[in-house]
Amino acid sequence: MARSSRRFVCQSCGTPYFKWQGFCAACGSDNSIVEERAVSGGRGGRNKATPIAFTTLDSKSETVARLRSGIGELDRVLGEGLVPGSVVLVGGDPGIGKSTLLLQAAARWAAGGIPTAYISGEEATAQIGMRAARLGLDAPQLRIAAATEVGEILAGLNEEPRPRIAIIDSIQTMFSDGLDSAPGTVAQVRASAHAFVEHAKRNECSIVLVGHVTKDGQIAGPRVVEHMVDAVLYFEGDRGHQFRILRGVKNRFGPTDEIGVFEMTDKGLMEVSNPSSLFLGEREGEASGGAVFAGIEGSRPLLVEIQALAAPSQQATPRRAVVGWDSGRLAMIIAVLETRCGLAVGANEIYLNVAGGLRIGEPAADLAVAAALMSSLSDLPVPAGTVIFGEIGLSGEVRPVGQTDARIREARKLGFNRVVLPAGGRYTKTDMDIVEIDHLRDLLAWFATRGADNLLERG
Ligand code: TYD
Ligand code: MG
Repeated sequence: MARSSRRFVCQSCGTPYFKWQGFCAACGSDNSIVEERAVSGGRGGRNKATPIAFTTLDSKSETVARLRSGIGELDRVLGEGLVPGSVVLVGGDPGIGKSTLLLQAAARWAAGGIPTAYISGEEATAQIGMRAARLGLDAPQLRIAAATEVGEILAGLNEEPRPRIAIIDSIQTMFSDGLDSAPGTVAQVRASAHAFVEHAKRNECSIVLVGHVTKDGQIAGPRVVEHMVDAVLYFEGDRGHQFRILRGVKNRFGPTDEIGVFEMTDKGLMEVSNPSSLFLGEREGEASGGAVFAGIEGSRPLLVEIQALAAPSQQATPRRAVVGWDSGRLAMIIAVLETRCGLAVGANEIYLNVAGGLRIGEPAADLAVAAALMSSLSDLPVPAGTVIFGEIGLSGEVRPVGQTDARIREARKLGFNRVVLPAGGRYTKTDMDIVEIDHLRDLLAWFATRGADNLLERG
């Protein structure tokens, strides 16, 4: 006997409650708790259930062919294409380009001979057609539909010829007739996602779910979806810049730290196969406060400029603002500069920006951040042609980081001739000028030899 019980669920984080309340104690959202009717019980377990069927590991040992779109930047983030029967969630801000990217990918999959369907809950088929025409997509095989009811969509996906890839744009617009909550609520999103996951696993149909993200960086409500799917990709970027980054944050079948770089043009999203040149493109000559960091994003080296601005402040607690990097790490580096290197930073407002809108997570950027700060404080530019990387410890020691050779090679390829790196790391000798740094003091000394005496508090 199925029994219906009342419960209340926060629509933003999914926390259940026994009774309604005005705010969620778990995530702090106001007015986000809504009643949901949960069906529990069922057949009461044990006796009547059909036993599950077991299989063995070697029964499926042939390697599955991945479904490549031919869009290299997308395929790489997926782990060389979609795994048949897998479910991928693509999240991102509204308007960032998710529908554009997935329509382009769907057309490529279809044109490549993989039966593909694109189902939109947000646009009519005529609008999808107009978008496809504008993007210059040529894929008469691609099947498109405008629908929002999960049962109808699954019935459509079960008709021959069955699509091997289905794109659901977006999960927030989907609803299941069996549930009486509104589309977009946690209950609907969870139930719809569950139905699509079931379909994917049963029919070896890969499903890409599109999900809109709220301003606090979480996929609106349906964070619950993240753990149901095989891979979660975020499409990031800001409207002010034309490039977009597809970042793998979870992937059961591939790398998670990989990024794909795209540029939004009037013909849709174009792949950027040499992102370093894009991120450095906006640099204007030698200016103080800028340092080029030789980073690694996923499997690829990527050069980006880190900019710092130190401005005198009259405030008791001077402002510190960071874009594209962790503010806690900036605070740590400032503290290390002050206590281990005797540098007077305290009374300055500090602004740190990763040029171009990229977000960096690597601790290897520490040394470049420190160099940008020193450069801004001393008003001395980091010499042209220099790239910097290295992790900084609390005592001011500089620690080696991975993939030194790849970083040096990328810098060399882009015309740089000097590398400031941690002492003690292993790398292959090239014609690059190498400056080894053991302690943050050495970096300061390196600046000082270039006339930055004003940096040191005591002469
Ligand atoms: P869209 O893919 O609809 O975003 P999402 O699905 O993530 O909400 O992208 C919409 C934006 O992209 C819109 O502001 C216009 C811009 N755009 C272009 O610049 N060029 C194009 O070719 C297309 C189709 C859209
Ligand atoms: Mg869209």
